[in-house]
Amino acid sequence: MTASNSPRVPVAVLISGAGSNMAAILDAAGAADAAFEVVVVISNVPEAGGLTLAAERGVPAVVVDHRGHGRDRQAHERAIQAVLEAHGVEVVALAGYMRLLSPWLVAAWEGRMLNIHPSLLPRHPGLDTHARALAAGDAEAGCTVHLVIDDVDAGPILGQSRVPILPGDDAEALSARVRTAEHVLYPAVLDRFCRDSRRP
Ligand code: GAR
Repeated sequence: MTASNSPRVPVAVLISGAGSNMAAILDAAGAADAAFEVVVVISNVPEAGGLTLAAERGVPAVVVDHRGHGRDRQAHERAIQAVLEAHGVEVVALAGYMRLLSPWLVAAWEGRMLNIHPSLLPRHPGLDTHARALAAGDAEAGCTVHLVIDDVDAGPILGQSRVPILPGDDAEALSARVRTAEHVLYPAVLDRFCRDSRRP
């Protein structure tokens, strides 16, 4: 972790879509005793709704469109890295960032990059988690915040939240219940992580 006199850890939130988790994180950053501040939001998708939400709240919202880089994943990530460095970011929070990262960016942020996944990992990594939880007959679902490693939806688990699967649930209903839990879990875990990272 970079040494800093700032009492708040400068965080970047990476998104690809609606940004509801990002919004929850921004809300938490507004608390007087928050351990972090969001210094930049980055989206790889220019149309991502979260960009507008971030800009409305006065947070720099930057598009780094992967499509400009063809198949060169690392070139896209170098452009992201340049934005992260320009904003003095110390911790990266992936919040619905739906592009696989190369080992290069993962290594650059080892131990300092968090992700949220809409399942109780290690159960149901990957996509369509809610439909898969229902098809498997699971009694409960939930969400996981974990450190990012060079493996998809894996890495040390920092926090989990459980929700019941109710009779009559479809993927949409379950997704909404899990999403509500995400909005509580992610800001809390991020805050604790940043607080701990400041301890000598
Ligand atoms: C969230 O449910 C998040 O857990 C999921 O995408 C959604 C983004 O919603 N992430 C993944 O599936 C990553 N594997 P949001 O844009 O409204 O925060």
